[in-house]
Amino acid sequence: MSFPKNFYWGGATAANQYEGGWNEGGRGPAMTDVTTGATKDTPRYVTYKNADGTTGKMSMFGGTLPEGAEYACLDGYYYPNHIGTDFYHHYKEDIALFAQMGFKMFRMSISWPRIYPNGNDEKPNQEGLDFYRSVFEELHKYGIEPLVTISHYDDPLYMEEKLGGWQNRETIGLYEKYCHTIFEEYKDLVKYWLTFNEINSAIMAVSFIPNCPDEIAKKGYIKLHNQFVASAKVVKYAHEHYPQFKMGCMIAGMISYPLTCDPKDVLANQHHMQDSFYYCGDVQVRGAYPGFARKSWKKYNLDPGFFEQDKDVLKEGKVDFFSYSYYATSCETTHKEAKRDGAGNMSMGYKNGYIQYSEWGWGMDPDGLRYSLNELYDRYQVPLMVVENGLGAIDVFEDGKIHDPYRIDYMKAHVKAMKEAIEDGVDLIAYTPWGCIDLVSAGTGEMRKRYGFIYVDMDDEGKGTLNRYRKDSFYWYEKCIKSNGEDLD
Ligand code: BG6
Repeated sequence: MSFPKNFYWGGATAANQYEGGWNEGGRGPAMTDVTTGATKDTPRYVTYKNADGTTGKMSMFGGTLPEGAEYACLDGYYYPNHIGTDFYHHYKEDIALFAQMGFKMFRMSISWPRIYPNGNDEKPNQEGLDFYRSVFEELHKYGIEPLVTISHYDDPLYMEEKLGGWQNRETIGLYEKYCHTIFEEYKDLVKYWLTFNEINSAIMAVSFIPNCPDEIAKKGYIKLHNQFVASAKVVKYAHEHYPQFKMGCMIAGMISYPLTCDPKDVLANQHHMQDSFYYCGDVQVRGAYPGFARKSWKKYNLDPGFFEQDKDVLKEGKVDFFSYSYYATSCETTHKEAKRDGAGNMSMGYKNGYIQYSEWGWGMDPDGLRYSLNELYDRYQVPLMVVENGLGAIDVFEDGKIHDPYRIDYMKAHVKAMKEAIEDGVDLIAYTPWGCIDLVSAGTGEMRKRYGFIYVDMDDEGKGTLNRYRKDSFYWYEKCIKSNGEDLD
């Protein structure tokens, strides 16, 4: 067994990091437009203006806007998501390059504030609707199937600031309206949809912040529940109105191992996987909270009644396929002397002595991809997609060429791992590596952390021509797709 004949090879992006054109075409601002650039050792901030004219900044993970303050872009900061790498003005050129690599699928997101600039507008923004129509038509011209993320880290700023964002259950209705609009508009152009990118990121602070305060955890769990309900409602709606649609979840692959065979480490790891990963998959694929959810609710003094009120809705909105991002694995332990992994502000667990780490401290582990694919297929028995994977690295641009053997090695090992998983019996239907063209990093806001097969001339201060160049990995991936994953050398 090898990759199936109709396997979807492709690449993945998101509007907030790639599209740019932040204040063009009637688009409203998004949260990411007030988020600063940073590095692997310094955090990204969200900036604001207080009612008395003074300014401030807060962590992008779990900060709270002071009373009376408004989000704002401030002098002296750089906001890299404003330009991204300018898909808005380069989409025809970029799609032609994807087609040259042989893409069968392209994952992208629709920017909600390009369709409803404030989130609660009465009518959608026609210019925004037209833009995505042109993009989808361009993709179909080359036989590339769009895979659309409906919400990928760019909720309308107004909705967040004035309406309380996902803490407010009314946001569910706004999301439904947005989905109904784009479903109807693109029903003949888009078949595959993902309701939320990395829905478990809502509770990521619980993993990132040691002894996460109850207040921050609580906000995360409420946001996540409201997103589960929103997702289930639109999945049900899509199944009833557009039977040709395939609806999927998208979960950040928080895959970890016990650091030792100490049974206490095995249990710690089981709890970590349950709380940060399966919690979401179980709700979205099985349609109900798993038994272990009660443990988390109890830990953070959350009222189970809040989560149980939408039982029927969750049951009726089960997704058709499971998708996840897979970059790295980590370890869990109860042993105090163990070393944390990661670099700078992004540590997620403990260091694994058997794998190599990227410059950003991400533990590269192709076997973990095979392992997780098997675990997920055993658990959910629905088709799987790996919709993000790749190596964020510094590339050297010399005479129009970029030699990136490190990226080719990473990709090769992960493609092999997927092939092995398919041989194990896993129903894997798509692979869309992340940032198939260079774009802004979500975690650090950097440009120098590049994932692409296509290099974009743009630096961390927003300087560059935005010209596109093929890296060595471009030709490698072209060959890989052409041979349906057989020719990897
Ligand atoms: C995923 C996100 O978490 O990882 C992407 O869905 C993100 O938006 C990607 O870009 C890689 O992370 P980073 O921080 O290297 O951009």
